[in-house]
Amino acid sequence: MIALGCDHGGFALMREVIRYLDEHNLPYKDFGTYTEDSCDYPAIAEPVARAVAAGEFEKGILICGTGIGMSIAANKIPGIRAALCTDTFSAEMTRRHNDANILALGARVTGTGLALYILDTFLKTPFDGGRHARRVEMLSALDKCR
Ligand code: RB5
Repeated sequence: MIALGCDHGGFALMREVIRYLDEHNLPYKDFGTYTEDSCDYPAIAEPVARAVAAGEFEKGILICGTGIGMSIAANKIPGIRAALCTDTFSAEMTRRHNDANILALGARVTGTGLALYILDTFLKTPFDGGRHARRVEMLSALDKCR
């Protein structure tokens, strides 16, 4: 199950993400926003990130204009490893090495076609584990420093 969230800047791209998920029979919950009216990305990122961190969702997808605000907000929630990706290599590596649990996309930066390739890569790539598990545990330890 995938948790989805976007602000007004990511609204149109999120329609394409939802179309992709529907076509691939991948279940999701849409946390909004539900219109193109201006809204505040931290208010969307927080419930998505908390739900992913709580284990209610396997992964999350957050979209804003640049993807930066969403990724900053999501990464403030303990247990979240949100990766802003603008290319498929990064999407693959952040799954394999960082076990990223949220993908952030920038709708004003990344075109729809590439964004969907990034999404596809992110969803299909497993975590490598091994030495990377130790490093991810070190990231979790940093949560406790807050
Ligand atoms: C909204 O105008 C814009 O600031 C937002 O979508 C995002 O890019 C913030 O990081």
